[in-house]
Amino acid sequence: MARSAVLCGLGAWVPPHVVTNDDLAALLDTSDEWIRTRTGIRQRHVIGDGLSTVDLAVEAGARALKSAGLSEADYLVLATTTPDRLCPPTGPEVATRLGMTGVPAFDVAAGCSGFLYGLQTGRALIAGEIADTVLVIGAESLTTLVDPDDRGTRPLFGDGAGAVVLRMGADDELGAVLGVNLHSDGSLSELITVAGGGARARAAGDTAPAHITMHGRATFAHAVKHMEEVTRQTLAQVGWDITEVDHVVGHQANARILHALAKRLGLAEEQAVVHIEEVGNTASASIPLALHHGVVTGRIKPGDRLVMPAFGAGATWGAAAMTWPQLEI
Ligand code: UT7
Repeated sequence: MARSAVLCGLGAWVPPHVVTNDDLAALLDTSDEWIRTRTGIRQRHVIGDGLSTVDLAVEAGARALKSAGLSEADYLVLATTTPDRLCPPTGPEVATRLGMTGVPAFDVAAGCSGFLYGLQTGRALIAGEIADTVLVIGAESLTTLVDPDDRGTRPLFGDGAGAVVLRMGADDELGAVLGVNLHSDGSLSELITVAGGGARARAAGDTAPAHITMHGRATFAHAVKHMEEVTRQTLAQVGWDITEVDHVVGHQANARILHALAKRLGLAEEQAVVHIEEVGNTASASIPLALHHGVVTGRIKPGDRLVMPAFGAGATWGAAAMTWPQLEI
């Protein structure tokens, strides 16, 4: 019988420092009203006090391991667009800080779809009999990449981390990740970029700082279209009708994207789990943070059927379908 990946642990952590829309409106030509109505964001958490991506990942990873009742996992996959340094990868430091020295640990960079790419990697490691347990962490310090003077990007992004533990199991268990579909299209690479600091900029002698630029309207349109398509593809793969889905736990880039997606799928707006108002866009961390929010607020319950779509830089996109397990968190 095929070995399935079953989610058995969940953890989340955001740095304590909060920046509200009003805080930003005091610094930029923007307003709480514009940010809330155009994005759904009310505040974001921002690293400071010497914290960085490794610290966020360790906090979320430790909580996920505790939730799973494990002291370590066979593999660690860290999904991040904001590693602490270009070299070394951040995953090994996270593993050692979690007491997992010696365990294979590596970074996966897939923009805002990073968590799904990490999930699929973990699932494949389990299905391929390479690992029995995998810790998948999504951690980001995106506020370090925004141009502080750019009202078009600074209000959107936040810092945080979420993590899950996958274990070997069977498809009929609650928590089974039943289907994942991933895609990419490099012809859309200019939608969201951080040019500064990369090899292309260095080779050209360009010393501009590393700042995010995003073509917002075009990204919005691609996000809604591709997230709808890949959600339908994933539901067909696992044999669920859309009416059998309880929650859409999508990448949190914009509340309007999540509501538009629910509408196009024929679901009620309330079936979209929206957590962006508290944390902003946290890229690879956003789906596990939204899962955690859904569980602690009592919306996501054992036995619920979830679909989790994302779209982001690359362009990359994908979706996962799973049932929700009984968890200690
Ligand atoms: O996570 C990866 C995937 N990312 C996404 O999926 C993000 C997708 N895009 C979006 O969520 C939205 O496009 C944004 C939130 C980025 C922007 O919202 P929008 O409704 O598409 O606004 P816009 O960029 O079309 O700008 C509308 C107006 C512009 O002014 P004019 O040209 O109409 O005079 C902007 O200059 O709003 C202005 N604007 C702002 N005004 C106040 C842009 N940012 C701000 C701001 N405060 N912070």
